[in-house]
Amino acid sequence: MKKSNILVNRQLLIGEIEDSMFSSFLEHLGRAIYGGIYEPNHPTADGDGFRNDVAKLVEDLQIDLVRYPGGNFVSNYNWEDGIGPRSKRPTKKEEAWKSLEPNWIGIDEFMLWSKKVNIKPMIAINLGTGTVDSAHNLIQYCNANDNSYYASLRRKFGSKEPYNINYWCLGNEMDGDWQIGHMPCLDYCQKAHLAAQKMREVDPNAKFIVCGSSSIDMITFPEWDRTVCENLYDDMDYLSIHQYFYESTTENDYYASYLAMNNYIDILRSVIKYAKAKNHSKKDIYFCFDEYNIWYNNKKLEDNYSIAPPLLEEFQSVKDTIVFSGLLNTLLNNCDVVKIACLAQLVNVIAPIMTQNKGMAIKNLIYYPYYYFSRYCRGVTLKSSIIKGDKFASRFGEAYYVSEAVVQNKEGIVVLLTNYAEEEMLVNVQLGGYKNIEVIEHLLINGGNLNAKNTFESPETVVPKKAINSVVIQGENVDIKIPPFSWNIVRLKAD
Ligand code: AHR
Repeated sequence: MKKSNILVNRQLLIGEIEDSMFSSFLEHLGRAIYGGIYEPNHPTADGDGFRNDVAKLVEDLQIDLVRYPGGNFVSNYNWEDGIGPRSKRPTKKEEAWKSLEPNWIGIDEFMLWSKKVNIKPMIAINLGTGTVDSAHNLIQYCNANDNSYYASLRRKFGSKEPYNINYWCLGNEMDGDWQIGHMPCLDYCQKAHLAAQKMREVDPNAKFIVCGSSSIDMITFPEWDRTVCENLYDDMDYLSIHQYFYESTTENDYYASYLAMNNYIDILRSVIKYAKAKNHSKKDIYFCFDEYNIWYNNKKLEDNYSIAPPLLEEFQSVKDTIVFSGLLNTLLNNCDVVKIACLAQLVNVIAPIMTQNKGMAIKNLIYYPYYYFSRYCRGVTLKSSIIKGDKFASRFGEAYYVSEAVVQNKEGIVVLLTNYAEEEMLVNVQLGGYKNIEVIEHLLINGGNLNAKNTFESPETVVPKKAINSVVIQGENVDIKIPPFSWNIVRLKAD
């Protein structure tokens, strides 16, 4: 049996976990919106055409922010196509995903849905084909409470009250040559600066998220990030970063994704420190990890320009879910700088929730670790150090067979453990400064069959199970047995 020793002390915190750590993303892509959250002919649809079965699964995840409407889509989207009477809205060719956009859902419907499912919006503006003026007009439409043209239009089409949207993404992945309107970094800085200025004239409280790298593998990484932070430091509140993980080289490299994500954040910590110093600024900026997930089925798009074609629909395996759970640990362990993190995406598109048109809505396998992460990891992350443990080699460096995060919440302590080894592991967690420790529950998903998935035919092939007699407590010492290839959440009571 492999062994790992983890040291924790209640005096040593990484930081507070913001609610916005539990955020997600919905794009006009594939069946995320049409056939996902919205399907007027579905048996569970409400009076506004939103699927209640999907809404329930979303609400259960207790998501904070939802980023909308893209993604690559936003870089060729005219938001004005999505307001006013539906019968007058155009259907247009959408070039990012080679689809047809009918504009049945626009900003007003998204805000309506947000209220129903109790989430807050984070809106991306188009800095590809879009202009600074159109960004200004959108924030005026959403947030102004005066007699301006667009505020009046909102009163007519959407809502009497302003939406008061706080979070605004200044474009999407503008460093990527696949992005419609992709431009050199300094051009982006100039456009984003003008947009931020014009938007702040309407709403001085708006928070801006600036495009950083769309992955650590970009040739322009980390130069792009340095340049945007240096040039836009005064305008920005967050640096957006994205990363998807997939099994491209070895199995061990895939398991070490948690380390790769950590390395990525680590490098960018230095970049934002440098930009702060260079700008002689007193303010801090943070990371908005507004797209992360596992994603492998990146097939070439067919140019068939249909409405809501099934795109990027993936059913995650136990192995994927184990890798995914390590990413959540890394986010928690960087909560001092990662203030917003959006699971990309929410419904049907590389998502925890999958639907059939006119049919079922089910929990994809990553739904479970995300659900427990969101339910139980509100509080502070404690600094945890592995002082003894086996490692494996990966292209990201040596990685421990166990990845961990330890959170103190209202109930007590939550220990998250992922085991990437093919043998059982005995993890000793020393919880310095706590007493009267008792176990509430140990839940796990493990890999009898690493390829097992939940599908529409068999939606509960894999569900979390309760571990029995797996935790032994002696004073501050908590010994936890975790099975091979497993995700684990151990909830403890403690004084
Ligand atoms: O989430 C799918 C796509 O991944 C998004 O549209 C884009 O921003 C990223 O490349």
